[in-house]
Parts: sequence; C-alpha cells; structure tokens
Amino acid sequence: MSDFLTVRDLVVEVPARNIKILDGISFSLESGQTLGLVGESGCGKSMTCYAVASMLPRGITRASGSVTIQNSAPTGVTAKAPKIAMIFQDPTSSLNPVHTIGYYLESALHRHQGLKGSDARLEAMRLLERVGIDRARSRMRAYPHQFSGGMNQRVMIAHALAAKPQLLIADEPTTALDVTMQAQILHLLEELKAETGMALMIVSHDLGVIARLADKAAVMYCGKIIETAPVGELLQRPAHPYARALVDCMPSIDPNDLEPPAPIPGSVPLLDSLPPGCHFHPRCPRASAECSVGFPVPATIGPVHEASCYHPVAA
Ligand SMILES: Nc1ncnc2c1ncn2[C@@H]1O[C@H](COP(=O)(O)OP(=O)(O)OP(=O)(O)O)[C@@H](O)[C@H]1O
Ligand code: SF4
Ligand SMILES: [Mg+2]
Repeated sequence: MSDFLTVRDLVVEVPARNIKILDGISFSLESGQTLGLVGESGCGKSMTCYAVASMLPRGITRASGSVTIQNSAPTGVTAKAPKIAMIFQDPTSSLNPVHTIGYYLESALHRHQGLKGSDARLEAMRLLERVGIDRARSRMRAYPHQFSGGMNQRVMIAHALAAKPQLLIADEPTTALDVTMQAQILHLLEELKAETGMALMIVSHDLGVIARLADKAAVMYCGKIIETAPVGELLQRPAHPYARALVDCMPSIDPNDLEPPAPIPGSVPLLDSLPPGCHFHPRCPRASAECSVGFPVPATIGPVHEASCYHPVAA
C-alpha cells in the first residue's frame, strides 16, 4: 500500500529565538496504519502533530522539509474534503465553555459536511451515541463543565469524526483520564480505526498505550526522531540507548519481576543549549568520544528498523 502521509526532513523553528523545535524529522504512514510517537516531555511530539495538521502556533514556522498528504478522496470531493482531524490532550480546556455540546458538534457538521438544522442535530446525536454517550438528546444541551473529563474527550472524538478524517491525530488522548476511562477511549479508537480505515497518529507517554494501538513507533529526543521500528520490535529490542532507557522505565505487572523501573539519569536539555553531536550523549551509558562530535546518521537495525546511534544496543 502507498503512504498516505509522508513527512520528509521537516524543520520547524522559532525564528525569534533561533532554535529548532523539530530538526529534520522524516516518517510515513499508510491508510489504516497507526504510528505511535513517544519521548520525554518537550522532545517535540505535539509540535510534530501541529506541523502535520498545519496548526503551528504563532511565532513558530516551518523552515524546510515537506508534509505530503496523498489525495485519496473520491473525485469531485477532493478540493474541500477535510482529511485531518486532531484531538488534544486536555479536553476540558480545548472546548469553549460558553457553547453547548450540541452547538459545538452541529457547527462542525455544518463546516465539514454542510449539514444544517435538524439534519445537523440528528447527526450530532448519532455521533454522541457512536462515542458512547447515552441520552444524547438531553446531553446536547449540556455545557463542557457539566461533563466529566472522559465524556469531554469523547465529545472531542465525536467532533473529530464530524470531519470524516482520513488521518486522526490524537495527542495524549488518555493522559488526563482515570484507567477505566483510558481503557474505554482506547477501545473506541480501536473500533473507529477498524470501522473507517483511517490512519492514526497517537502521542503518549505510556508505552502500554502505544503497544496496544500502534503498528509502528517513532521515538523522539530534542526535536529529532532517533529510532523507528514496528512497535513490538521496538519494545522488545530497542536499539537506541535512549529508547532502551524509555522501555526500562516501564513498570512491570509481573509479580516475579522485583526490579524497580530504572529512571533515566539527568534531564532533557534546553533547545537553546543542546549538547553537540548526539544530544543524548551526556546521559548515555554507551557514549564514546565520537558521540559528542557529530550527530549519527540513522543505522539500519532491521528491514524497517532504524536508529540514529554510533553504538546501538542490538549491535
Ligand atoms: N509557543 C512556543 N514557543 C517556543 N517554544 C515552544 C512553544 N511551544 C513549545 N515550545 C518548545 O518546543 C519544544 C517541543 O514542545 P512540544 O510541545 O512539542 O513537546 P512534547 O514532546 O509534546 O512535550 P509534552 O510531552 O510535555 O507534551 C519544547 O522544548 C517546548 O518548550
Ligand atoms: S550516539 Fe553515542 S551518545 Fe548517542 S545514543 Fe548512541 S552511544 Fe549514546
Ligand atoms: Mg505535547
């Protein structure tokens, strides 16, 4: 299958501060496939989502590289067909508190599908039911503060579905939720993927979430993708020492595993004072002299497995 989304050598910067937030990232995604983006806080996961969705915040610009979306909508619909929808980490602050849930969904349906009046209302109720919110008719009159975090997250997913996206970007969709809600949202995303065949880009700190939903994963550090692999391979045989360290941080539920999760020493450097060479070298147990001189080019670990490291763990 050909790629639906192709990102090539994408550089995103803050010109006023002369820093690169994304530094030459490349990846691709087929329709129906799920890519998981992982990495510590501040490594550029959200900015990657915003760049793909053409929603970069003010003052942040795409300096070079490309984001190509394959034109796969039916003839005659292509020009206006919305293709990408995004759901955000914090649903409650992403919804406008002065609008009812019904208004929010109906206006999206009007914008994306041209529906009005009772057509829009009926479709909005159908979407609410689709994402598991019962008594949709009365819920349409509710405001976001009258919903729980999990319900608001579902409303955001319903809003995204109103756009009939071919790519759904979910930035930490379960982080603000308790484990029961998390499980329900993950199940819903799995169902929607199977039903619609859309591509999914999911960001999560939780490698368990990535393992459950993603086909392949990309690990980010300081605005670069430092390892990409099929998700099972990445979790079992991470090659980059940083990816390995992230996997080692995962708590185990095996009662016989008495090893506590090992934290990664140090912290992510600031973008305006990045260490030279491989940016991970001050924290890396495998670092050698060459690591602080030049950034390593991606090394092939397996057929679709690459890691940017001079001394990959698998080697
Ligand atoms: N508006 C902004 N202006 C300047 N720098 C920004 C802005 N927004 C984010 N950044 C910087 O861009 C980098 C990447 O941020 P991003 O939000 O993509 O990180 P993230 O990986 O999503 O982190 P988290 O896991 O905490 O959500 C960070 O160093 C952040 O400080
Ligand atoms: S290039 Fe060197 S410092 Fe960077 S991750 Fe690999 S071994 Fe560690
Ligand atoms: Mg983020």
